Amino acid sequence: MNIVIETQRLILRTFTSADAHLIYELNKDPDVIRYTMDPVKHLEQAVEILEKTILPQYALYNHGRWAVQTKSDMQFIGWCGLKARPERKEIDLGYRFLKETWGKGYATEAAAASLNYGFAKLNLPRIVGRAMPENIASLKVLEKCGMKYYCDEIVDGHPAKTYEAINPFINR
Ligand SMILES: CC(C)(COP(=O)(O)OP(=O)(O)OC[C@H]1O[C@@H](n2cnc3c(N)ncnc32)[C@H](O)[C@@H]1OP(=O)(O)O)[C@@H](O)C(=O)NCCC(=O)NCCS
Repeated sequence: MNIVIETQRLILRTFTSADAHLIYELNKDPDVIRYTMDPVKHLEQAVEILEKTILPQYALYNHGRWAVQTKSDMQFIGWCGLKARPERKEIDLGYRFLKETWGKGYATEAAAASLNYGFAKLNLPRIVGRAMPENIASLKVLEKCGMKYYCDEIVDGHPAKTYEAINPFINR
């Protein structure tokens, strides 16, 4: 297992090609995809997401979306991490967790650790995070991990509230 980040309660590890069923199970829940609107209809689609989107990011950028597991029992609870969006010249913080794990502060813990990793280890100058205006839980996570409101905009055809964090370790 390639553990990238460890927090008090969580480990964040790189996904492997054996993890498609985890992505499939996560996206099967309509509540989980309510604001992201990206259902995964069958396991083969999850394999494609993993192989075409998630895994290549690790090799290209040294970061990506990481699988999150609870240290106490090593259960998979969701994913969190950084995604390069070269077409927007952005690194984006994202997260998604199984419904039964919501409300325990896991998203905030994983998101804050991912931000810190991006700044302290990868020297990224700026990281953005965004959520639909109705996705209050996600907006709270962005605020609780220290990101600041940047703007309202339309991204990928959907209204979004965009937040940003600037690397505190880089002198300007
Ligand atoms: C968004 C998500 C990751 C949050 O995960 P989580 O582990 O529950 O997050 P946390 O426990 O760290 O924090 C959530 C905060 O939002 C609050 N919250 C949750 N739902 C809320 C609601 N409907 N209204 C107001 N606050 C809400 C919680 O009370 C908590 O704040 P608090 O610590 O001040 O009480 C989770 O709901 C999820 O996976 N959603 C589906 C995927 C998704 O939408 N991802 C984001 C795409 S932009």
